[in-house]
Amino acid sequence: MKTVVGNWKMKVGTRESVALARGVIMALRGKKILPEVIICPPFVAFSEVRKVVARSRVQMGAQDVFWEEEGSFTGEISPRMMSELGVTHALIGHSERRSLLNETDEMVNKKIREAKDEGLIPILCVGENQEQRAAGKDFDIVAAQLHQGLTGIRFRPKDQLYVAYEPIWAIGTGEAAHPADAVEMHSFIRKHLKEILKNNPSVKILYGGSVDGENVYSFLREPEVDGVLVGGASVKLAQFGQIINSAIEAMEGEK
Ligand code: 13P
Repeated sequence: MKTVVGNWKMKVGTRESVALARGVIMALRGKKILPEVIICPPFVAFSEVRKVVARSRVQMGAQDVFWEEEGSFTGEISPRMMSELGVTHALIGHSERRSLLNETDEMVNKKIREAKDEGLIPILCVGENQEQRAAGKDFDIVAAQLHQGLTGIRFRPKDQLYVAYEPIWAIGTGEAAHPADAVEMHSFIRKHLKEILKNNPSVKILYGGSVDGENVYSFLREPEVDGVLVGGASVKLAQFGQIINSAIEAMEGEK
């Protein structure tokens, strides 16, 4: 099954989120094969979006979570609060948070641990920047982010972990990675996770960075690519509909 995650970032408010969520449900209507669809609205929109997606196959993900269950942490939101709202997944370590808010691998690690403890499926975001790529350090950077992000966290065989490979130079630039390069990185990540994680939890690896309706199939048709994490094109219904259709097409090809 292919996965499509829409990260709406801070691009839409509550009203637009509700409209988008309705549109996503419409886009899935009548389809025989359904990809896994996870939408990540801004925090303020969850209660309203929840009403729209209730009893549908669309799942909700948080764009971030804090690493404690509750307490004096002004402005933060805990995995438990999210899970109470019906949220199933949480993006953790998105590059925008790493670069704009100085989120470190250590913080990412604590967030993954807490999210997992509360039953959320973490979507760990990793990826190199342009400079690191030019210096040929992309694999080292991603390996370090995986190691430090996951160190000391015990997964059981029934646990799930998603990793999103999002090269920073591809985010919001219109310049997606070449599918062959994404495939190479995905298989590197998969191999690496086998070494880091004991007990063989189920792992999905998504590609993100300038995915749109036009290029998405070139990623999704690759068996190494379990799904996509979409930013800009996820708040444009026509684009997101195309992305969902391409996921269905790719799943038909898998049969
Ligand atoms: P874009 O799809 O806008 O490049 O954003 C990708 C992203 O950051 C998703 O988390």
